[in-house]
Amino acid sequence: MELPPALRQAVDKALEGVPLAELRRAADLLSRRYRDEVRDGRLHLPDHLAAQAYLATRLPATYAAIRASLAAVAEMRPDFAPASLLDVGTGPGSALWASRDCWDSLEAATLVETSIAIRKIGERLANGLPGRIEWLDANIETGLPALPPADLVTLAYVLDEVPPVSIARLVDRLWAITGDTLVVVEPGTPAGWQRILAVRARLIAAGAHLVAPCPHQEACPLAAPDWCHFARRVARSRVHRLAKNADVPWEDEKYIFVAASKVPGNRPSARVLAPPQSASGTVRLKLCMNDGSVAAKLASKREGAPYKVARRLDWGDAVSKDSGLA
Ligand SMILES: C[S@@+](CC[C@H](N)C(=O)[O-])C[C@H]1O[C@@H](n2cnc3c(N)ncnc32)[C@H](O)[C@@H]1O
Repeated sequence: MELPPALRQAVDKALEGVPLAELRRAADLLSRRYRDEVRDGRLHLPDHLAAQAYLATRLPATYAAIRASLAAVAEMRPDFAPASLLDVGTGPGSALWASRDCWDSLEAATLVETSIAIRKIGERLANGLPGRIEWLDANIETGLPALPPADLVTLAYVLDEVPPVSIARLVDRLWAITGDTLVVVEPGTPAGWQRILAVRARLIAAGAHLVAPCPHQEACPLAAPDWCHFARRVARSRVHRLAKNADVPWEDEKYIFVAASKVPGNRPSARVLAPPQSASGTVRLKLCMNDGSVAAKLASKREGAPYKVARRLDWGDAVSKDSGLA
């Protein structure tokens, strides 16, 4: 997945002239802080250089994960056409760009961010985008201001930066101002999955209808050391490769999300939980079933139509009722 051309150009402009050695050092520090989930009371993006390192090395991946999560919502809720977005912990506005790419119905966005450095960069990137965009300086731990309700509320890659005890209160607050759908995205690590499970349980208890990725509202059938996550291949720009000292022109971003709505949507029969394994004349699928179980399905060429469907399925895809697979 690539950034939309307008965002790609704005990012390239924001990174023009940045000294490479400094960008590398900042990207390395950022990567270590994210990997170790450091919670030391300091922001990961305290200054302009850290914010530039985020643009170069993290935005392409978080954009891809958010965009893929929104695509899963759009598939299950073809009737959903959000006019308003509220994104909390917006960073450079990744969810704004992903939402605009997914739904051209979007007219207004409220973006909440506590780091001045990344907020300033995000404002510059979004300069010229149509619609009403309001950037708010607020901290979700020390108290959010009164926020307008929005059709779509997003919280992406933020929960790993706030104390776990704050999660329930934050989810309650965001759900209360969600007009239609709330989407929470996290890194696709076992710890990220645990946080998504906590959000999922809280939303189900509040009466939410899960939209994606779960095809059911039962307890998650996976158990550690297994965990639910998906992946998107992300193109690395030249500056991205240089900042990471990497040769490969792409990377795989692992992510996990939960989307919940105030109204029920379509439910697939199953969702593909791992890369399908193809061998001669067979496809092996790991499926989360809509009865709340996890199942291994072997589709063979002899079966005809189900095999043809299985061959086209990818990790994270919804499996329809008429596929003959689930
Ligand atoms: C990893 S970045 C994610 C940015 C964006 N959502 C994305 O997916 O690209 C996390 C963002 O949350 C912000 N953040 C962290 N703690 C926050 C808090 N207590 N209040 C508001 N924003 C916060 C950080 O400053 C940072 O911009």
